[in-house]
Amino acid sequence: MLIFGIETSCDETAAAIIKDGREVIANVVATQIKTHEKFGGVIPEIAAREHLDAINVVIDETFEIAKKNFNITPNDIDAFTSTVGPGLVGCLLVGLNAAKTLSLVYNKPYIGINHLQGHVCANFLETDLKPPFICLLVSGGHTQVIKVEDYDKQEIIASTIDDATGEVYDKVARLMGLPYPGGIKLDKLAQTGNPKAFILPKAKVKENEFSFSGLKTAVLRLVQSFNGKELPVADICASFQENITSTLIDKTKKLADKNNIKTIVLSGGVAANSELRKKLFALQDIGYKTFAPQMKFCTDNAAMVASCAYFNPIKTDDPLILEAFSRS
Ligand code: KG4
Ligand code: ZN
Repeated sequence: MLIFGIETSCDETAAAIIKDGREVIANVVATQIKTHEKFGGVIPEIAAREHLDAINVVIDETFEIAKKNFNITPNDIDAFTSTVGPGLVGCLLVGLNAAKTLSLVYNKPYIGINHLQGHVCANFLETDLKPPFICLLVSGGHTQVIKVEDYDKQEIIASTIDDATGEVYDKVARLMGLPYPGGIKLDKLAQTGNPKAFILPKAKVKENEFSFSGLKTAVLRLVQSFNGKELPVADICASFQENITSTLIDKTKKLADKNNIKTIVLSGGVAANSELRKKLFALQDIGYKTFAPQMKFCTDNAAMVASCAYFNPIKTDDPLILEAFSRS
């Protein structure tokens, strides 16, 4: 089954064609980072307009790659899909309407998917991963531990009570004067610093909760304590990264143990983080099976969307009337 997917929930305009939920036929992403860099964050109205400018080009390029490499044409596609939410509504509408239009033009079904479940499905791309597993989903808007009992049977078993992981990364990066998008730059600097340079606090919350606002405030106080003197940026980044990644992995491992599940996977933009991946893969030494999406499938992309349409679509009698939504 060939599914054509579109993703426009935030600042990437993306399209992809995936065979049977796992095999990548074509995968195109146009990022808007350059546009939003000067504002220090994503401006929703500008993002929506940029999606409008990019969407047809991205769709055409995806079909061109499929034709060139696999001789696949639009008429060969079995279904069209897009992210319905959560995300920026003006942005989502662009992808949603493009996918619905393609479905009507080529007379094939439209399938809606949930962005977060899309991130989980990034783990199925070019792997043989099968449920059950525990998924740590860490993105710009979410931090959740999800129990995936079957492809379409998922339960959130822990989540953040304040900031999402990517959000904390971006805010801490900004505190230290790093340019947007800060998460990836903070990660790079952390790799050159001493993770034991500064002891930062860990929130005392329930086993099914994460809380990072105290950590964020502690980094702010630490930065302020230097009183304008030169900051040991790499050491602060490394200490912050050690703190947050150990909290995430320790908690996820405990929840996996509690649920008697020995496979742990990562997903979401922060799944690209070097230390988080290192700590996850280290669990293999003590008997866990671990997966993390390839880097290109961590941040927003349409390959995961098309995979999700195959494995875990939004169930509804009439997908064509699905409307974009902002929050899960
Ligand atoms: O999943 P995603 O592309 O968008 C949302 O659905 O939110 O995640 C974007 C988030 C941003 O906060 C970005 O700073 C963060 O992922 N991110 C990282 C890294 N790469 C991206 N955070 C830490 N380390 C990274 N290497
Ligand atoms: Zn995302």
